[in-house]
Amino acid sequence: MIPEWKLAEEALKNIKVIGHNNNQPVTILGFAEDLTCVGIGTDAAVFRFDKTPNYVFKVYSGKALKKKEVEKDVYERLKQCCYFPQLYGTGPNYIILSFEQGVTLYDCLLQGIPIPEQVIQDVEEAREFVRSQGLNPRDIHLKNVILQNGRGKVIDVSEYIKEGNDPGLRK
Ligand SMILES: Nc1ncnc2c1ncn2[C@@H]1O[C@H](COP(=O)(O)OP(=O)(O)O)[C@@H](O)[C@H]1O
Ligand SMILES: [Mg+2]
Repeated sequence: MIPEWKLAEEALKNIKVIGHNNNQPVTILGFAEDLTCVGIGTDAAVFRFDKTPNYVFKVYSGKALKKKEVEKDVYERLKQCCYFPQLYGTGPNYIILSFEQGVTLYDCLLQGIPIPEQVIQDVEEAREFVRSQGLNPRDIHLKNVILQNGRGKVIDVSEYIKEGNDPGLRK
């Protein structure tokens, strides 16, 4: 059976994501009426397709394309854990994840939305789980945690295969 998210394949062909140096956010080239950008990072832009609103498509820049496989592998190792999005599949330059409704903690600060203590506890538990899988919970910062119905969801797991600490808040 063809997975539902395949419906977005043609629309995604119209989008190109360009990476930059110095941790600058990516740029999007192209357009598709039924795709909405829901977030931008330094490696990828994340889109939602009108007909499949439960999924997002994380489209990597050419520069960051190697991270696609890495991130897929990490998500596969984290799949039992409720603090992370679900991975549904991969395309040529993107991965398909569950759409996680909510606002990032970064946007909470900008918009004055209070962050419940429970979210911080959830992130702590998520970090423990990552370690229990033999991975290193790096790159967890305000733009990589989503506040969802009073709970925390951690996104962007591609660095968990690296050793050591983050070089500070970079994004
Ligand atoms: N599964 C998701 N559901 C909803 N929004 C998401 C999801 N994944 C990412 N986003 C949004 O897209 C932004 C960029 O995604 P991210 O995975 O952090 O990219 P990068 O690896 O380039 O930092 C996030 O800060 C968030 O706003
Ligand atoms: Mg990110």
